[in-house]
Amino acid sequence: MFKEDLQKRIEHVEELLRKYSVTKDNEAKILFEAMNYSLFAGGKRLRPIMVLEAFNLLNGDESFIAEAFAASTEMIHTFSLIHDDLPAMDNDDYRRGKPTNHKVYGDGIAVLAGDSLLNYAYENIIANIKKSNYKDRCLEAMAVLTNAIGPFGIMGGQTADLINENKKDVEISTLKFIHEYKTTIFIRACLKVGAILAGANNQQVEALDKYGHNIGFAFQIQDDILDVVGNSEELGKPVGSDQKNDKTTYVKLLGLDESKEEVKTLTNEAIKIILDEFGRDKAKFLIDLAEYLKNRTK
Ligand code: IPE
Ligand code: IPE
Ligand code: MG
Ligand code: MG
Ligand code: MG
Repeated sequence: MFKEDLQKRIEHVEELLRKYSVTKDNEAKILFEAMNYSLFAGGKRLRPIMVLEAFNLLNGDESFIAEAFAASTEMIHTFSLIHDDLPAMDNDDYRRGKPTNHKVYGDGIAVLAGDSLLNYAYENIIANIKKSNYKDRCLEAMAVLTNAIGPFGIMGGQTADLINENKKDVEISTLKFIHEYKTTIFIRACLKVGAILAGANNQQVEALDKYGHNIGFAFQIQDDILDVVGNSEELGKPVGSDQKNDKTTYVKLLGLDESKEEVKTLTNEAIKIILDEFGRDKAKFLIDLAEYLKNRTK
């Protein structure tokens, strides 16, 4: 039941990506090809699904704006993956079951394809905000989203991730900073964006933020676990990447067993928060999603 529901939502997101992605047969044709190569390579599409779920949970009434934001979050996420895989960062050759962007198009085009997905994501949102009747909500959503991606968000987290390679005795607080900013803050932002666009009150936004904090953290810990015990074919990306780069991860600092325990604890906490705020009926998808992510193998 949940699996079918999730599959339908993935298909909806694919449709939105086809609608909102761009291509052009001009002198820069290769750039558009490279952008779409990674954008349409698959992926779980979790972030747009979260935007749309939060929006629908709170009965938003201008679905085109939530859909535009949702598609853009996947463009932004794909940008972060293209750059994350570059030789100057994690130096990985395989992503979403295919050779990484730079393996196909070279480092220069991969850098530009990533930059372009990030910038175009914002162009797409702004073009749609022009048509919205709720410009204040859109502005607030844009503030949350852009903050989660920049130096106070993913860029900061990825910086801490890089400078803590090959280090001994890294503090747990540093590891938490890395996970909070490279991964969790964007997941929190997707849920908040959906809620804000729907006109949610502060308490509702806060509950989704806390839920996002817990599942986001669990998500990156599970990512660290799967980098050790996962199956590369199923993941569509290499295992052992963190060990190769001697990254600071949960598994490195706390070991596999404690990491697995932490995923369970955070998931239970997430479920409790969302259940308390919205009740079992309304929160059903987000509860099932948290459970699904806890047990994920890809
Ligand atoms: C991978 O994200 C990068 C992390 C933040 C761990 P996902 O696991 O959501 O990757 P896709 O979108 O499914 O490829
Ligand atoms: C990457 O974390 C997070 C971002 C892309 C922002 P990882 O480096 O662990 O992600 P994977 O394992 O390559 O997907
Ligand atoms: Mg990385
Ligand atoms: Mg990586
Ligand atoms: Mg990883």
